[in-house]
Amino acid sequence: MKIAIDGPAGAGKSTVATALARRLGFVHLDSGALYRALAVMALRQAVDPASERDLVHLLGTVQLTPLPDGVAVDGLELDQELRTPAVDAVVSKVAQHPAVRAAMVQIQRQWGQGRDVVADGRDIGTVVWPDAEVKIFLTASLAARADRRATEQGGLERLQVEQEIARRDEKDSDRPVGPLRVAPHAVVVDTTALTVEEVVDRLVNIVRPLA
Ligand code: CDP
Repeated sequence: MKIAIDGPAGAGKSTVATALARRLGFVHLDSGALYRALAVMALRQAVDPASERDLVHLLGTVQLTPLPDGVAVDGLELDQELRTPAVDAVVSKVAQHPAVRAAMVQIQRQWGQGRDVVADGRDIGTVVWPDAEVKIFLTASLAARADRRATEQGGLERLQVEQEIARRDEKDSDRPVGPLRVAPHAVVVDTTALTVEEVVDRLVNIVRPLA
C-alpha cells in the first residue's frame, strides 16, 4: 500500500508522514531528502545547479539511497546538512530538471517496491505513485508555515523564512515536470489551525478503513 502526502514547503509533511508511518507500521520515504542530498553534493562539488547535464553526471557518480525518514549518499547518512539555508536556496533549481526528476522517480519506485510506504513530497500522488491508495494534500497558510519553520530552525528571521518558502513554492509549482499540484482524488487537509497530533489522527481515520 502506498500513501502519498504532497504539499508546499513547511506544511509539516515530513513530521506527519513520520508519525503516520509509525502508527501504521509502514516505512516513511522522505522524497525531499533525495533532492536535498543532490543539492548538497552539487554544493560540495561546485556543480552548477542550472546544468541538467552536470547534475545527471553527478547523480551517476554517487549512490543515493532512501532510508526510513532520511537519505544516504554512498552509504553515509546525511542529516543536518540537508536543511541549511544554502541547500534551501538551490534545491528547487536542482529539482526542476526533467532528467533529474526521472532518475529520482526511479529511485523512489524501486525502493518502494513490495513495501507499505508513507511518502511525502511534491509529486508523489501525481507522478511517483499515481495509483496510491490514499492521497493527501497537506497545506497551511503561508504565515503558519513560516512561523513553524522559523521556530524549528530557531534563530532564522521569520520574514526571511516566509520569503524563502514562498519563492520555493512558486518554483515548485511553475516547473513543467512534476509540479506541485493537488493530485486527482487527493484529500486536502489544511493544517493551519491543527496540531501535529490532530493532523495525524485525521489521516489515520482516512487510512484505517483502507489498510
Ligand atoms: O520540508 P520542505 O517542505 O521544506 O521541503 P522538502 O520536502 O524537503 O523538499 C525540498 C525541495 O525538494 C522542494 O522545495 C522541491 O524543490 C524538491 N522536491 C521535489 O521537487 N519533489 C519532491 N517529491 C520532493 C521535493
